[in-house]
Amino acid sequence: MQISPSILAADFANLERELARIGNADWAHVDVMDGHFVPNLTIGLPVVEALAKVSLIPLDCHLMIDNPDRWAPQYAEAGGRSVTFHVEAAADPKALARNLRAAGARAGVALKPGTPFTPYADLLAEVDMVLVMTVEPGFGGQSFMADQMPKVREVREAVSRQGGEIWIQVDGGVSATTIEQCAEAGADVFVAGSAVYGAQDAAAAVDELRDLARQHPAH
Ligand code: DX5
Ligand code: ZN
Repeated sequence: MQISPSILAADFANLERELARIGNADWAHVDVMDGHFVPNLTIGLPVVEALAKVSLIPLDCHLMIDNPDRWAPQYAEAGGRSVTFHVEAAADPKALARNLRAAGARAGVALKPGTPFTPYADLLAEVDMVLVMTVEPGFGGQSFMADQMPKVREVREAVSRQGGEIWIQVDGGVSATTIEQCAEAGADVFVAGSAVYGAQDAAAAVDELRDLARQHPAH
């Protein structure tokens, strides 16, 4: 059970300090948005490169961008230890996943709430993580979509059949009140932005979330 706080909810004027607040987390989740794939613009390669130099924990880059086939491998080269692209935006997801692994990163594939998993099940042979979005990508602080839990279950069953070490991540509205159902459905990597950075003690929030997830493993 791993926690990946989203720095989208952090103070962008003090990112090094904000990363230091979550030193006990497993990953730092970096939301890259291009203003095209989603109607919001955040940060890009130069900032990811700078973050990789100062972060005590590995970077988990979530690319909400068009044409990831072209751009995603550069995030691996910039220091993203995990790089997740959206399947809706990729022209050749298998080739892209292979390129990410060749560049030294874990390869992740993300599904928007309206995107079913079944047509992409054969991607499990090529990826290290499946991200099931629990909000429409684009903004932090939105309400958790419990209707995505059947998809998490479906991915968990497919991963069990496939064997191997494929992680299942949820992202969007994950908090102390919603993390248990995610864990029970089969998620094992939890992104949380406002629930961590909105807390007085961000590190304590990370520990609390991890404990809650551990107490509710998939069944
Ligand atoms: C949404 C982003 C999320 C977001 C999560 O498009 O992918 O990572 O930062 O924020 P919270 O946890 O506040 O919903
Ligand atoms: Zn994200």
